[in-house]
Amino acid sequence: MTPALCLIDRYAAHLPVTSRTPRLTLGEGGTPLVRAPSLERETGIDAVWLKVEGANPTGSFKDRGMVVAVAKALEERSGAVLCASTGNTAASAAAYAARAGLPCTVVLPAGYVALGKLAQAIAFGATVVSVRGPFDAALAVVKELAAQGEATLVNSVNPHRIEGQKTAAFEICETLGDAPDALFIPVGNAGNITAYWQGFVESVAAGFATRRPRMYGWQAEGAAPIVRGVRVAEPETIATAIRIGAPASWQGALRARDESGGAIEAVSDAEIMDAYRDLARREGIFVEPASAASVAGLRKRAQGAGLRGASTVVCVLTGSGLKDPDTARSLTRDVALVDATADAVMGAIAHASRA
Ligand code: F0G
Repeated sequence: MTPALCLIDRYAAHLPVTSRTPRLTLGEGGTPLVRAPSLERETGIDAVWLKVEGANPTGSFKDRGMVVAVAKALEERSGAVLCASTGNTAASAAAYAARAGLPCTVVLPAGYVALGKLAQAIAFGATVVSVRGPFDAALAVVKELAAQGEATLVNSVNPHRIEGQKTAAFEICETLGDAPDALFIPVGNAGNITAYWQGFVESVAAGFATRRPRMYGWQAEGAAPIVRGVRVAEPETIATAIRIGAPASWQGALRARDESGGAIEAVSDAEIMDAYRDLARREGIFVEPASAASVAGLRKRAQGAGLRGASTVVCVLTGSGLKDPDTARSLTRDVALVDATADAVMGAIAHASRA
């Protein structure tokens, strides 16, 4: 059997790489696209597909872009990488930097990074700095440091990140045989919706697809600058990954919306949490809260403004549920603690089923 190609090799013809670009890889990409039978029954849509990006090496879609950004940093003989992050970019940058042998610094909004992401950045050996203020303040700081020549910035303002992330759109077209009618995706800093749109546009040119999907982006109500058309100084949402008030790729998101005939709308934290719980309990897929925004958005559209006859849709599930154990833990009553006997465990089961 021939070994699977790494992402950079698989899509080399469509990425800004040359034979000199190091073939860095942790096995990113090639993530599952699975049907969602419970959502199909609920919405009446023929085919609802979930792109499970939590299956990437560090548990989020960021790995697709980070592998390209860090490989290019190596090629350009950069001495270090740097990013601001709500957590997943930090985990991914730290992992690929470790693999590449480059020092990595991550700047995080203090108090708003999920535990699993922080654990990853620390384990991969990054220098971790927390700042007072939201992600937007952290991004302003790292842009300033990068401009001073401190390190290569690997936020999605680095175009190599967008290039790598667009490969998810290629994979969807390859697996389905064409683009879906509509794509549902969470929006934070807006790099990913920008990348997917670029990927779908290029898919038509490359022959992976004959058409392009309508793009539906979803922000959290308390952090919805694009929906409101104005920056949010103090963004708030349980979906900390998308707790962003001034998205760097705002224009890219508007282009994706307008050129595709889609929409960018908001879902409440309650709608996000319902989708988060139901994805796990009905579909068997455990995502982090921000990822559930895409499914919350699908539900909202299916009930409200409508899907204009869409029969094949894809929801992007951007990150693994293990990233945020505290939110998962908040879903449950206390876990029973009893003696290690069959009787005691049977008693606890009976008690749980009555509760
Ligand atoms: N979902 C997850 C799990 C994320 O971590 C992010 C962004 C998004 C969705 C939104 O993607 O920013 O491209 O619009 N996380 C960034 C980070 C901001 O620092 O990890 P986006």
